Amino acid sequence: MSLYRIRGGRELHGSVRVHGSKNAALAILSGVLLCEEPVTLRGLPAVSDVETKLQILEQFGAVIDRWDDGETVTIDCSNLKDAEPDPNMVRNIRTSFYVLGPILARLGSARIPQPGGCKIGARPLDFHLKGLSQFGADVRLNGGFYEAKAKNLVGAEVYLDFPSAGASQHLMAAATLADGQTVIKNAAMEPEVTALADFLNRMGARVEGAGTSTITISGVTKLGGGEYVIPADRLQAGTYLLAGAATFGDVTVEGVLPEHQAPVISKLKEMGVTVDEGPDWIRVVGNRFMQAISVKTMPYPGFPTDIQQPMAALLSIAHGVSTLEETIYESRIGHIDELNRMGAKIRQEGRTSIITGVDHLQGAVVEATDLRAGAALVVAGLSAIGETYVKNIVYIDRGYQKFEESLRSLGADIERMPVEEWEKAGQWSG
Ligand code: EPU
Repeated sequence: MSLYRIRGGRELHGSVRVHGSKNAALAILSGVLLCEEPVTLRGLPAVSDVETKLQILEQFGAVIDRWDDGETVTIDCSNLKDAEPDPNMVRNIRTSFYVLGPILARLGSARIPQPGGCKIGARPLDFHLKGLSQFGADVRLNGGFYEAKAKNLVGAEVYLDFPSAGASQHLMAAATLADGQTVIKNAAMEPEVTALADFLNRMGARVEGAGTSTITISGVTKLGGGEYVIPADRLQAGTYLLAGAATFGDVTVEGVLPEHQAPVISKLKEMGVTVDEGPDWIRVVGNRFMQAISVKTMPYPGFPTDIQQPMAALLSIAHGVSTLEETIYESRIGHIDELNRMGAKIRQEGRTSIITGVDHLQGAVVEATDLRAGAALVVAGLSAIGETYVKNIVYIDRGYQKFEESLRSLGADIERMPVEEWEKAGQWSG
């Protein structure tokens, strides 16, 4: 086990290129199971969630060739087999469940243990189960496993009670091989949903309307193979922008589409941070007199829930009282106690964090409780005076590729060290 030691208070300067999107990659890796010919994915992020998902695919008979460049794989799913993936792996990542529909579409039955993922709320699966049933599948929970059977899937009109990214992706993928037409209404509009649709279309599917709230899928008999480049990770990009602002630095994030960051850019500007943008880059120039603001998370194109936690770190050093309301996940709050250990003044009222800005944060020993809480603590540690130790960085490794290398290239003093080494040095505070 490792932790990060961060010597904070240094302005970040320079340019950073973001890696491929974890959440797009995880959804596309489910879609790959539908393809009867080899698929080559480029720009696949080297993060632990993606590696876990690749291993789950292998358990279903996918043959995976990992290229030496570390970010390209060729996956051959021509000979899928009925299998039960390792429950420990499935418990680790939520999107392991999204293989249910594709396996069902290819093999006529599937059995998947109940999935896990970051502990940020209840995260039910009812939309997924209802949608698959509407496609004619018999889906049931039996002894901790979801079991699904269907001779063939039949297209249907599906209305989602909430624009769930995962349900939109899962049902869209399953519907590509269903008989007839499927219409998903109140679909999520996240770029990661559009990326999956682009991928599926590249492989021979007929998906229209992704990126809007109505997605129409005309079923085809098979998907082939081909190449696809995973788009850049907008959540990584947002994290670097906030780190630039929190250290009063000057950071350019390259290889991203500014329109995907519109709410983050808008809120940074409202705080008084200077933001410039070009066709595929965004630059932030920090301001020591950032103002408090109100933020509310919303489905895309609203302010992303995944940036809510790093945003709390930034608002902790803005002048005045900010409010930050989380509307997507009821308990995405693991960062709050930890930020308060660093001198932040955050009070939680229901789903809203009330954040009274302080002059600066102070280094402390803190613990990541989930991926984005970990990112928030790193942003806080970079801006804080003194040394911060972020424990449980296994969560951060789930979604940020070469995080410390990228931050170091911007001038950050951040180092990964084994927990044992740190304990031996007598820095353990219990
Ligand atoms: N929901 C239901 N029933 C369902 C599915 C979802 O009630 O069947 C609810 C959820 O409980 C939540 C809301 O709908 O309140 C939205 O959940 P959604 O399904 O959109 O989330 P997800 O697909 O499970 C993905 C990302 C999350 C990201 C959300 C929101 C992946 C692997 N995960 O989760 O990313 O926060 O969309 O954009 O794509 C992260 O990267 O740290 C992360 C948690």
